[in-house]
Amino acid sequence: MDTTTQNCAVIILAAGKGTRMRSALPKVMHRLAGQPMIAHVLSACAPLQPQAVVTVLGPGMESVKETARKAYPASQFALQREQKGTGDAVRAGMEALPDFDGEVLVVYGDTPLLTPDTLNTLLQRKKEQGACVALLGMRPSDPTGYGRLVMQKADYVERIVECRDATAAEKALPWVWGGGMAFNAEFLRRGLSGLTPSARTQEYYLTALVEMAAAEGEPALMVPMGVEEAMGINTRAQLAEAEAVMQQRLRARAQAEGATLVDPASVFLAADTKLGQDVVVQPFVTFGPGVVIGDGAEIRSFSHIEGAHVGADAVIGPFARLRPGTVLDAEVHVGNFVELKQTQVARGAKINHLSYVGDAEIGEAVNIGAGTITCNYDGLHKHRTVIGAHAFIGSNTSLVAPVAVGEGAVIGAGSVITEDVPADALAVERSGQQVKPGGAKRLRERRRES
Ligand code: UD1
Ligand code: MG
Repeated sequence: MDTTTQNCAVIILAAGKGTRMRSALPKVMHRLAGQPMIAHVLSACAPLQPQAVVTVLGPGMESVKETARKAYPASQFALQREQKGTGDAVRAGMEALPDFDGEVLVVYGDTPLLTPDTLNTLLQRKKEQGACVALLGMRPSDPTGYGRLVMQKADYVERIVECRDATAAEKALPWVWGGGMAFNAEFLRRGLSGLTPSARTQEYYLTALVEMAAAEGEPALMVPMGVEEAMGINTRAQLAEAEAVMQQRLRARAQAEGATLVDPASVFLAADTKLGQDVVVQPFVTFGPGVVIGDGAEIRSFSHIEGAHVGADAVIGPFARLRPGTVLDAEVHVGNFVELKQTQVARGAKINHLSYVGDAEIGEAVNIGAGTITCNYDGLHKHRTVIGAHAFIGSNTSLVAPVAVGEGAVIGAGSVITEDVPADALAVERSGQQVKPGGAKRLRERRRES
C-alpha cells in the first residue's frame, strides 16, 4: 500500500450509546471474530500510518480505552459529553488535533468490516482529484438506515439526506453513504464551527458538511466501496450478519495460506488465528483469540481452542479443549474430553482420554493415562505439577499439586499422588485388593434364599 504521500489523522466516532443494541456494553465493545469492533476499526486504520488516531468516547466508556490501546498503542481519546450527533462528536475529536493541517479521515466505530485498502483508496482519490471532501458510497439492496447521496453530477455529492429525514423520492436514491469521509482539516474546522442542529432531531449531523462544501462550489467526491465492507452495526442482527462476513474472510485467508478446512462453514476463527501450512481442521471447531497452529497439525471435530500454541504435526481432539497458556510441542496428541490450561507439553507426549491437566509441565514422550487429573487448586491457590520425560502416568491418577514426577517414573493406575516421585521410581497409592475365593457364589445363594 502506498501511503507515503499522505499526511492524515483519523477520528473514530464511538461515543454513541448504541441504544439499538439493548446492551450494558458500549456498542463498539461487542465482538466480531473474538475481537471488539473498535479493535477491527483501529486495525483497518493502522496501515495508513496516520499522524494521530483519536477515538471519540462518551462518558463512562473507560473499557473502550484499554481495548483501543491494546489494538493501537498510540491511540488518543476525546470525550463527547452529550450525544448531540456525529457532527458534534467530530468537533470533540478535533479538539485533540488543534494544529493538524493535513487530511482528516472520519470513520465510525460501528463499521468493523472496513479494509485498509478502501480507506487508502478514499485518500488517494481525494488527493488525485484535489477534492476538499471525499466520502465512501455504496449501493446496497436494502438502504434502510443509511444516509442517501444526492448527486447532480456522477461521483459528486451535493447533499446527504438522513434516512429518517428523507422524502419518498430521496429514499429511492440508489447511492448511500457507507461511513468514511475525508476532509481538509482547514475546511473541517470551519465547517464544524458553522454547524447548526437539525431542525427535526436537534442533532448536529456530520453529513451537513457535505452541503456546506457544495455551497462553496466544492461538492464532495464519492468513492465507491463494496457493500459488505460498509455494513454498519446498529443491532444484534446486524452484528451476526457482520460476523458471517468476517468469518468468510478469515476462512478464505486460512485456506489461501495452506490450511484445509473440511467444512469451512462450521469452523469459527478469531481475527488473529494463525493456521500453518497443511493444517487440517475437521468440521465444528472453534478458535478463540490468540491461537497459533503449527504446520501439519490436525484439529479434529468439536474442539475448542483459545490462547494456545499447537506444535507441528500435533493431533488435537475430537472434543478437546485447549485453554489459555497451553503450549504444545510437535507431535503431541491430545484426545477426546481432555482439557488443558497453562500447561507446556513437550514433543511426542500423549494425553488421549478424559483428563484435566492445568498449571503443569509435561516432559517429552510422557504418557498420561485416561482419567488423569492434576489437582491444581486447593481452594485458595493454584499449584504446579511437573512430569519428567518418558514418565508413564497410569489411568485415573490424581496428581495433587504441588508435585513432581521424575523422568522415567511409572505411576500405578488409580493412585492419588501427594508426594514427589523420584526418577525411574514406581509409585502406587491404593489400598490392597481383597479376593475371597467362592465369595461371589455364596453371595448369590444368600440373595436367592431371602
Ligand atoms: C450514520 C450516518 C449515515 C450513514 C451511516 C453509515 C450520520 C448523521 N448518519 O448513520 O448517513 O449512512 O452512519 O453507517 O452521520 N456517534 C457519536 N456521537 C454521537 C452520535 C453518534 O460518537 O453523538 C457515533 C456512534 O457511536 C457511531 C457513529 O457515530 O459509531 C454513527 O452513529 P449511528 O447512530 O450509528 O449513525 P447511523 O444511524 O448508523
Ligand atoms: Mg451506525
